[in-house]
Amino acid sequence: MSQAEARQTQRVVLQVNGQRHELDVEPRWLLADVLRHQLGLTATHVGCEQGVCGACTVLVDGKPERSCLMLAVQAEGCEVTTVEGLTPAAGLSPLQAAFQQHHALQCGFCTPGILVTMEALLRENPHPDEATVREALSGNVCRCTGYQFIVDAVLAAAKEGR
Ligand code: FES
Ligand code: FES
Repeated sequence: MSQAEARQTQRVVLQVNGQRHELDVEPRWLLADVLRHQLGLTATHVGCEQGVCGACTVLVDGKPERSCLMLAVQAEGCEVTTVEGLTPAAGLSPLQAAFQQHHALQCGFCTPGILVTMEALLRENPHPDEATVREALSGNVCRCTGYQFIVDAVLAAAKEGR
């Protein structure tokens, strides 16, 4: 394949955080990279780029997905929600506020992916027990908090009906 062919782009229509975007993307571009570099949604972090760490997690049609394992063209016709889309115009979402109150983050690199994953959990199961929270968290790597404060924050948010 020539370089010119390799650079061919195609038009995709992505629905991201409630907004419609028409974008020209190369078929090989990852959803994570398009979110970050084309749309400027840089809260979606890229860590391992191989589906292990969960930092790149976004909601695709309401389900948590690794945006480093999904091509942008595969998201056509889906509703994509990043952590920016879970954040109110002013202040923090209830889950974000619980993270703040319970000191559930340190460096914060993993936090957007964890917030997205936990938001999906609470939407599906508003009153999870600790084991369920830990199971749902198992795909998100955080190397600094030891998880206890994250679990505390999620359980507190659930308890308060957030
Ligand atoms: S960057 Fe996607 S799972 Fe790690
Ligand atoms: S907050 Fe630092 S790795 Fe998660």
